[in-house]
Amino acid sequence: MPVSGIEPFLKWPGGKRWLSSVLSAVLQAELSGTYFEPFLGAGALFLAMRPKKAVLSDVNADLIEFLKTVKRYPELVVESVWRLSNSEECYYRVRGSVPRTRIGRAARFLYLNRTCWGGVYRLNKEGRFNVPFGNSGRIICNRDDVVLASTAFRTAKLSAADFEKTMAQAGTGDVIYADPPYTTRGAGNGFIRYNESLFRWEDQLRLAKVAREAAERQAFVAVSGLNHFEFIDLYPGWWVAEFERASNVGRDLQSRVRICEVVVFSRRPNADSIVTVQIGR
Ligand SMILES: C[S@@+](CC[C@H](N)C(=O)[O-])C[C@H]1O[C@@H](n2cnc3c(N)ncnc32)[C@H](O)[C@@H]1O
Repeated sequence: MPVSGIEPFLKWPGGKRWLSSVLSAVLQAELSGTYFEPFLGAGALFLAMRPKKAVLSDVNADLIEFLKTVKRYPELVVESVWRLSNSEECYYRVRGSVPRTRIGRAARFLYLNRTCWGGVYRLNKEGRFNVPFGNSGRIICNRDDVVLASTAFRTAKLSAADFEKTMAQAGTGDVIYADPPYTTRGAGNGFIRYNESLFRWEDQLRLAKVAREAAERQAFVAVSGLNHFEFIDLYPGWWVAEFERASNVGRDLQSRVRICEVVVFSRRPNADSIVTVQIGR
């Protein structure tokens, strides 16, 4: 019997909560082996799918250390966070702290993620977290959400790694979902320029090569990107589906725009819920 999905408890820029119910059904239909998610972030797709076997990774070592701790000690992490308040004074005190214990570091990570501006994770040149207070007024975290997610992560192998190392392990029956930071080759808007320092165009080319190699080993591969010919042209002969969402960059309704994103698939997906067209060779 399929298990029911869980919502991510972290806020993550570029997070796929909005796409997870449609896409998880598509990926589930292709999965008979291990599920791979090499750009994990808050893991919206993994949590929606809750596969029996999963290999999850992200280059953000603090995120992975945090998830490994939550996987083992969810209650202790939540209890530590509950001692803090969602106020500016508390935020800057926690931001300036350097906890010495594993639980303390995980509680700081969760607290900052839930109370900083936009869930952004950014370090300065000295490696210190430097995102301002978000003033969101939201509840910092819900115990049940964290505990439930920790049970899902228990069946997964988590590691801090570049995507290439993780994707190299996938083969027949496996599914890879790759959701990198979005970049295009030309000059883009501020969002793309900001991401360029994190994920350059050369990384997109490297990803396309590694994705093709995994598909040749008979893994089913899905890669998210902007609806832009430069991205889509990296995957000749694959299948593409469009998905529209409201941008969450602007805070008021007027400044929100509709953004069209795509997912490219290495084979035609075995699902009626989405429309795909084949990319020209
Ligand atoms: C768009 S986010 C993924 C969001 C995720 N799908 C979710 O639902 O929350 C992209 C992630 O890729 C990670 N990343 C950036 N460069 C990477 C690399 N070279 N290898 C692995 N992960 C990388 C970032 O740390 C970030 O967490």
